[in-house]
Amino acid sequence: MRIDNPKLISALPDLGIELRNGSALSELTSLGIGGTTDLLRIKKHEGIPDLLNLLDSNGVPHRFLGGGSNLLVGDGELPWVVVQLARPEPDVVLEGNLARVDAAADLGGMEGLIGVPGTVGGALRMNAGAYGMQIGTYVREVKLYRAAARKIEILRGDQISFEYRHTSFAPDDMMLAVTLELPSKPFKEILQGIRICNEKRRSSQPLGQKSAGCIFKNPPGASAGRMIDELGLKGSNVGDARVSDRHANFFVNAGTASAKDMLTLIGQVHEKVRASFGVELENEVVFWTV
Ligand code: EPU
Repeated sequence: MRIDNPKLISALPDLGIELRNGSALSELTSLGIGGTTDLLRIKKHEGIPDLLNLLDSNGVPHRFLGGGSNLLVGDGELPWVVVQLARPEPDVVLEGNLARVDAAADLGGMEGLIGVPGTVGGALRMNAGAYGMQIGTYVREVKLYRAAARKIEILRGDQISFEYRHTSFAPDDMMLAVTLELPSKPFKEILQGIRICNEKRRSSQPLGQKSAGCIFKNPPGASAGRMIDELGLKGSNVGDARVSDRHANFFVNAGTASAKDMLTLIGQVHEKVRASFGVELENEVVFWTV
């Protein structure tokens, strides 16, 4: 979708918004899949309410993009524009055991989560986790734009529910910044934890390839990856969309896969797991395909 209203375009600089015409979402997502649309980059949080009012009053639909690491975006010209936070400097301020982190900051620092690609905003929304830890445990406070109230608000950690790859944030809430309260630990132990998690990840996940991490959530008490593997589906493909040989719950873009290829593959695997195990797998990756 293209923004062509001159009045809207001329209002953007004062709000701290940069317009990037015709951005390819394939370059902004870890899967390397996605069509084209106008991208609005936010340089100051205060401009957000006015920007969204402007978009609404001009009938321009929008979506919020984080780091694009858990996302499958449709092909071709997309029917909405994309709004994304620009990364400020500095993006992390440390005060004792508190880390104040901008939502656009790249994720890192907690042993289990190190190596998980994406921004802190995306990690918060999904309650990203790995190796027994999840970001929600450490959240003291979140600054967010609440689309329903049309204003920026601050929530305490205990006002948010963090579950397995799910949070109580509304779909149109936009994460702006977070304060994390992190436990003190000897440096050596932290380093050791990071080494172990990195090693595990490197040996079990296709890190060098274009993917969105795990496609499906694990059903209670089971592993989606193991079920797909047991069905012998590693390496199966639709075009360049392929089930990873290394981890069966990672689907990779081995070349120039389209969203259609990836969706077809996801549908086929979902159906085979349902037919063989009687389990209805739920998507972990977020779809922006309609
Ligand atoms: N397994 C197989 N074949 C496979 C993949 C896994 O047999 O192709 C087996 C493993 O051998 C292991 C079990 O399945 O016994 C579980 O596998 P793994 O430890 O790799 O964990 P997972 O349940 O597949 C989850 C998260 C990952 C996270 C890892 C490590 C989900 C959907 N996945 O994977 O998160 O990195 O644990 O904590 O919760 C993500 O969310 O995108 C993601 C990658």
